[in-house]
Amino acid sequence: MHAELLDPSDLHIQRCAQALQSGELVAFPTETVFGLGAAVSQLGAIEGIFKAKGRPSEHPLIAHVAPGADLTGWVAELTPTMQKLMNAFWPGPLTLVVPKGERMPFEVTGGQNSVGIRCPSHPVAIELLKATGVPVAAPSANRFGKVSPTRASHVLAELGDRIPFILDGDVPEVGIESTIVSLLDDQPAILRPGAITAEQIEAVLGVPVKSHGEVSKTPNANPRVSGALEKHYSPDAKVWVLPASELAALELQDKTLCVGWTDEFLAQADALREKFGEVLVEALSDKPGEVAKALYATLRQADELACRQVLFEKPGQTPVWEAVNDRLKRASA
Ligand code: TXA
Ligand code: MG
Repeated sequence: MHAELLDPSDLHIQRCAQALQSGELVAFPTETVFGLGAAVSQLGAIEGIFKAKGRPSEHPLIAHVAPGADLTGWVAELTPTMQKLMNAFWPGPLTLVVPKGERMPFEVTGGQNSVGIRCPSHPVAIELLKATGVPVAAPSANRFGKVSPTRASHVLAELGDRIPFILDGDVPEVGIESTIVSLLDDQPAILRPGAITAEQIEAVLGVPVKSHGEVSKTPNANPRVSGALEKHYSPDAKVWVLPASELAALELQDKTLCVGWTDEFLAQADALREKFGEVLVEALSDKPGEVAKALYATLRQADELACRQVLFEKPGQTPVWEAVNDRLKRASA
């Protein structure tokens, strides 16, 4: 098989919606990362997602819905808490884990009674979901354990020989996977940090939210969240996360990509280049959102440029950097 790469014209979106309805896989852009979609009603296609990714089939998938979609039967109940979060953050990068409805197949939920559901804000995703008419299960469109794709070319490189369609679209605004909040227990809990923070969710709900830090300290917290595996989101290059002050003492042998944003880090990286030669330096904007947006493409670039390692500037240890720190920790594990 060789994937067709389609620009997001109305005609192509209709064609991809029909493909989804008839049980084929379609990769599509969202505001977080590209997803590998299958209609939740097409169990053969759901199985195909796990095959294409090489992902264990007990890992649950996120079901994507269009704005205003009727969730009856897909989730057990529309609670006031859900409603508040949907009103505040949908469409957008927030996944709600809630009790599943009877129409939602266990194949999507990894055999669990709960389902992760989200309404993306990328216009191409919205048009595709509207045209498809049923929820679309979609993990990130990468091979298991690898860096999530933020360009259609990333999907083509990794899954092009395994899926029939890749829908293109504007570069994801957010760049890292959605925040996942579980509403299964009395206290909402962050299972995966993302662009929407615990503080923002607390402000909307008016109740305390268990931070990702607290959740991950609980033994066996949620082994079903594949993003919770220690090593995940990794390029082939080795990733080191370190502050500017540690660059000067390094001895480099292999081709290296340095990525940072402070003047100090970039100056130290330039000094490394003068000393050792094969050192590439990439400057990012110092805003957490901009670093998140560029993160995965930058990690992939290291592989594309045949760098053996990446030296990534260590971000601040503050809530606004939590999601980036989380992904960097896993990429460097
Ligand atoms: O931003 C995103 O969420 C992207 C785009 C494509 O929407 N999707 C994504 O999917 O990151 P994936 O499969 O790579 O990660 C989904 C995470 C997994 O770690 C999965 O275990 C968790 O969501 N998840 C889904 N349903 C769940 C459930 N019922 N209980 C606990 N975790 C769940
Ligand atoms: Mg993923």
